[in-house]
Amino acid sequence: MRKWKTGDHVVVATAYVDDQDHDTHRDGMLGAGQKAWGFETNFGGLAHYAIVRASQLMPKPRLLTWEEAAVNPLCAGTAYRMLVSDRGAQMKQGDVVLIWGATGGLGSYAVQLVRNGGGVPVAVVSSRQKADLLRSLGCEVVINRSEIDGGDTTLLQRPEGWKKLGAAVRDAVGEDPHIVFEHVGEKTFGASVFLARRGGTVVTCGSSTGYQHTYDNRYLWMRLKRIIGSHGANLHEQWEVNRLFSMGRLLPALSKTYTLDDVSTAARSVQTNQHIGKVGVLCLAPSPGLGVTDPQARARVGEDRLRTFQS
Ligand SMILES: NC(=O)c1ccc[n+]([C@@H]2O[C@H](COP(=O)([O-])OP(=O)(O)OC[C@H]3O[C@@H](n4cnc5c(N)ncnc54)[C@H](OP(=O)(O)O)[C@@H]3O)[C@@H](O)[C@H]2O)c1
Repeated sequence: MRKWKTGDHVVVATAYVDDQDHDTHRDGMLGAGQKAWGFETNFGGLAHYAIVRASQLMPKPRLLTWEEAAVNPLCAGTAYRMLVSDRGAQMKQGDVVLIWGATGGLGSYAVQLVRNGGGVPVAVVSSRQKADLLRSLGCEVVINRSEIDGGDTTLLQRPEGWKKLGAAVRDAVGEDPHIVFEHVGEKTFGASVFLARRGGTVVTCGSSTGYQHTYDNRYLWMRLKRIIGSHGANLHEQWEVNRLFSMGRLLPALSKTYTLDDVSTAARSVQTNQHIGKVGVLCLAPSPGLGVTDPQARARVGEDRLRTFQS
């Protein structure tokens, strides 16, 4: 370790790479030995102490508490690569971006990144409470998918459901999406391919509802759309996102904090889709709210804004 010393406050990038693999030097995510730290290696990411590689370390944003800082890297980095990176959808000003699960882990950052970059987020969620949170973040177009499907949970897997959602997007924005931000998978992928505009992009990093995606290929090839697979973020992309948190230009999506003893309750809330944004788990920190080393920067951004997801 050359760039860090004992006692430095750090956050951990989740890409665990092999620096002796030549492809790593093209893009950290392309090396054959790349692993998701805490998922594919290291026996999980929640413990009092953990071993990481020096190539995973980034300075902890000084205006954030430990738990606010810890929850961000995985989902914010992944959303950044999907939307902003030249390896992702390369969103530009004015792009309309449909975001599934817009108050989930990925979605909470995606909405903010799209707004920051001058795009128009079209946020899809499943409840009024989530819709209200998004409006408080400045997201003007929010679609409640339960109002679209009216209780028929397979509607969005059929063309009539795709058209109904497409009509709602056109009503609200007047245009079809340039980019669809996908991670839900089997239950939404057909809709995503349909909804992207001619020449548009579906960018995907996951399949929460099932890996076997079905879509009507006519909408893809005849309308010249493309699908981009994306995974995590390389250290440069992750570093760029970390800067945004340090500058107060991205807000942490932490909604609730648990103790390490209560980690099963935290995980269950995510599994059952009861959570908002990210849930935090205190490992070494004795209580929430500690770790801020730049209170002036925190005051500049505003305590209320930084706690947007905690209200
Ligand atoms: N490849 C990578 O690097 C990477 C990184 C992070 C995450 N992921 C993957 O991406 C997925 C999402 O992660 P996350 O952290 O954002 O999860 P999350 O916090 O659970 O959010 C997922 C969101 O999906 C929405 N959703 C659930 N069922 C749905 C359905 N049937 N139709 C439409 N929307 C539905 C929910 O929103 P509503 O109920 O409000 O619609 C929920 O908020 C997971 O599969 C995860 O493993 C991949």
